[in-house]
Amino acid sequence: MENPFLIGERIYLRPLAEADLDRCLRWINDPEILFTLGRRFPMSRTLEREWLASRYKSENELSLALVLKDGDRHIGNCGFNEIDRGNRRAVFGILIGESERWGCGYAPEAARLLLRFGFTELNLHRISLEVYSHNMRARRAYEKAGFVHEGTMRESYFRNGRYHDTLIMGILKSEWKDDGPALPE
Ligand SMILES: CC(C)(COP(=O)(O)OP(=O)(O)OC[C@H]1O[C@@H](n2cnc3c(N)ncnc32)[C@H](O)[C@@H]1OP(=O)(O)O)[C@@H](O)C(=O)NCCC(=O)NCCS
Repeated sequence: MENPFLIGERIYLRPLAEADLDRCLRWINDPEILFTLGRRFPMSRTLEREWLASRYKSENELSLALVLKDGDRHIGNCGFNEIDRGNRRAVFGILIGESERWGCGYAPEAARLLLRFGFTELNLHRISLEVYSHNMRARRAYEKAGFVHEGTMRESYFRNGRYHDTLIMGILKSEWKDDGPALPE
């Protein structure tokens, strides 16, 4: 493992590096992924580099590479946006860029690592996310990690000629079940 930050059973999360940029750019510009993230325009390499640099300047955001322990393969990214210390909440985000790795349970595993970090290290009270209603795979993955459906912003996302709903999902610290190893004293 190279520079691990959070370690799970099959995956680990580490800081993103310059060498990851081209991979990230390929994923973010994949039309199928673009749709799920609500982006309409492709990302340039220059902008992607600026994005990466900005993510590590602020303690209000956390971006990590999701890496398979087996073969040390970087297959996606995940993290927190908008870490709000006053209200003790953050917004969770994830993308697995290599589509042949979808459906293997890696996103729920990464989400559990970040929920644990958020609740036990950042002292968050609430972690939430937004997902488009048609993204059944993401909805299911988030449910498996413990997020519950809290509400729906009806017809809030226009794509492919029609409106889609946006679901708000969230988890409170009081609802979170820690299934990780005992924390050190
Ligand atoms: C969405 C994403 C994060 C899910 O991660 P993942 O690691 O593939 O998730 P999982 O392996 O847990 O698989 C998803 C679950 O959805 C289920 N599923 C897949 N397609 C489904 C569908 N059309 N309807 C219902 N359930 C579906 C799978 O069966 C699996 O559930 P199970 O384990 O109970 O059988 C990942 O596929 C991804 O990054 N996709 C592209 C980008 C994206 O959508 N990001 C999220 C933006 S909100």
